[in-house]
Parts: sequence; structure tokens; C-alpha cells
Amino acid sequence: MAAGNEYHIPKMVLGSSTGQRSMPVLGFGTAADSPDSAVLKTAVLEAINLGYRHFDTAFAYGSEQALGEAIAEALKLGLVGSRDELFVTSKLWCSDAHPHLVIPALQKSLGNLQLEYLDLYLVHWPVSARPGKLELPIKEEDVVPMDFKSVWKAMEECQRLGLTKSIGVSNFSCKKLDNILSFATIPPSVNQVEMNPMWQQKKLIEFCKARNIIVTAYSPLGAKGTRWGTNDVMDSQVLKDIALARGKTIAQVCLRWIYEQGATFVPKSYNKERLKQNLDIFDWQLTEDDLHKISQIRQKKMIRVGVLHASDPKTLEELWDGEL
Ligand code: A2P
Repeated sequence: MAAGNEYHIPKMVLGSSTGQRSMPVLGFGTAADSPDSAVLKTAVLEAINLGYRHFDTAFAYGSEQALGEAIAEALKLGLVGSRDELFVTSKLWCSDAHPHLVIPALQKSLGNLQLEYLDLYLVHWPVSARPGKLELPIKEEDVVPMDFKSVWKAMEECQRLGLTKSIGVSNFSCKKLDNILSFATIPPSVNQVEMNPMWQQKKLIEFCKARNIIVTAYSPLGAKGTRWGTNDVMDSQVLKDIALARGKTIAQVCLRWIYEQGATFVPKSYNKERLKQNLDIFDWQLTEDDLHKISQIRQKKMIRVGVLHASDPKTLEELWDGEL
């Protein structure tokens, strides 16, 4: 095991970004149930010390401010040489997914983060909501049809203005990506989606690979212990057996598996030992047999409600265009 910040995190080159930009495959996730700023700040500083350089936030997570304070502190302490060494992602919330609100929303996120630019700005969901409210889940009466073309044009403008180096989407089906690609002058660099051994996203991964779109896995460990998460991933007997045989933890098996699928991933941990453990996955590999066993795991989508109203199966079908 590597010591201190000697961990080497591989990077992936982002298509369609301003300049040659690359993204560390492993990021620090900040989607938590009850955001505690002090805990988050301490964890970010520990993560930076360990070698993390990629940080994932969103306006809706309520974590931008604390992450920004931690980054400012890390720069002041000289834990990182300059802002350029970091890769910071944030996301446009649904109530701002209207053409005239995209740039102001990004500026607000930059203000929260105390940054001049983001590395990546994502459309959080393919859903627009009535402006002015941050509600989760969004009430049915507040959902309005998204003007994909104009919202994407505004996202492109964000990149042209230098407010972000790259743009992308989150929770987009193949069909919805196809639609964006049909008119985009800057195609999305990334699609961030739920992905773990229980929800492997095989079709989406192939689709994105063929179009030079990087997939980022959120909830790579099944978000155990959160309001939206499941224990199924961390309690999987298949993963337990593989972990035991490899002398690794279940979390490491999950993350290594995602890495071997060619995706990037943003596990959330505010615990130093687990942050370290999640980094220690780049100098070993799963066997063919392990990969085969994982490919046989029964698939079950964890996030059933999404941003919309309570578990209406029709809504879920529509959101994912039947790609379930
Ligand atoms: P903690 O923050 O206490 O480490 P996901 O990344 O899928 O959203 O999952 C997040 C959950 O998984 C959190 O509850 C986090 O707890 C836990 N977690 C993160 N890394 C590990 C690990 N290496 N082993 C066990 N649990 C982990």
C-alpha cells in the first residue's frame, strides 16, 4: 500500500473542454444527508493531504460553501500549489434549468465556492422546475417541460465565457443524450449517473464510450445509510466473497470494478481511513472470474424517486425513457 500522498490517481482526458483537461478518475463526493460543514471541511483537508484532487458538489447538496472554504484553506496552507491542480464539479439545479437562469446559477455556485471557474458544470437532472424554489423531491405541479436546446446553449455559453472549463449532464438516458448531441456545438464531456455493481449501466456505458462522453458513477457504494441509499451493494454476498479472496474490502472491490469499466467515480466518505482505503485500488485488479461473477449480479435500480414526486413508476419510466 502506498503511504501518505504517494497515491497515484489515474486521469481521463475530457473531450470538448477548454484546452486539454483531464479529470482524476476518483473524486471526493459531497452528497450527504445532513451536511455538516465542519466535518466536511476537515475531511476535504484530509483528502487533499492523501492525494485527492477531484471534488464533486452541487448547488442542491448545500456543500458548495464548506467545500469552498476548505479549498481556500488548503491553498492558504500550501497543501496544493495552485487552484489549477484541483478539479471541481458543480451542478445546475432544476429550478435554475431555464435559459436565462443558467449563467446566474453558475455565478452563484462560483461565489459559494470562492472560485473564478469550475472544471465541470453539469445539468443536474433532465428536469426543469418552477424558478425560485429548492425542493427535493420537486412537487408535480412545480415540474415544467425542459427547453433542452436553450438550456444547453446557455451551458455552452458558460464554457465560452470561461466560467467553467467543461460542461456535461447528469441522470441523462441514451435517448436524452442523443437529443443533446443532435444540436450541441459543444457536446457534453460527462454524464454523471447512478452506477455500482447493482446498477451496472452497461448500455449507457457503451453508448457514452462510443461518443467520447465520460461516465461518472455516483452512489458507487450504494449510498448506504442515506435517505436515498441501499444496503444491497455493501451487503452483497458476491462482493463479500470476492473481497475476501482478494484481501480487499467490499468498497474497494466496487470502486475497482467501476474503474475497470472505464468510468470515473465519486464515493462519499468523510472518514480518513475510508478515504485512504478508497484510494488504494489502483495497483491490483479483479480476475476474469471476479468480473464474470459481478456481471451476474441481479440488477436493481436504487434511486426510484429521483427528483420528481413520490414513487410513480410512470414518472421513473419517462425520466429514463424506459432504459431501466
Ligand atoms: P462514511 O462517510 O462514514 O465513510 P456512496 O459513495 O455510494 O454514496 O456511499 C457513501 C456511504 O458509504 C457513506 O455512508 C460512507 O460512510 C460509506 N463509505 C464510504 N467509503 C467506504 C468504505 N471504504 N467502506 C465502508 N463504507 C464506506
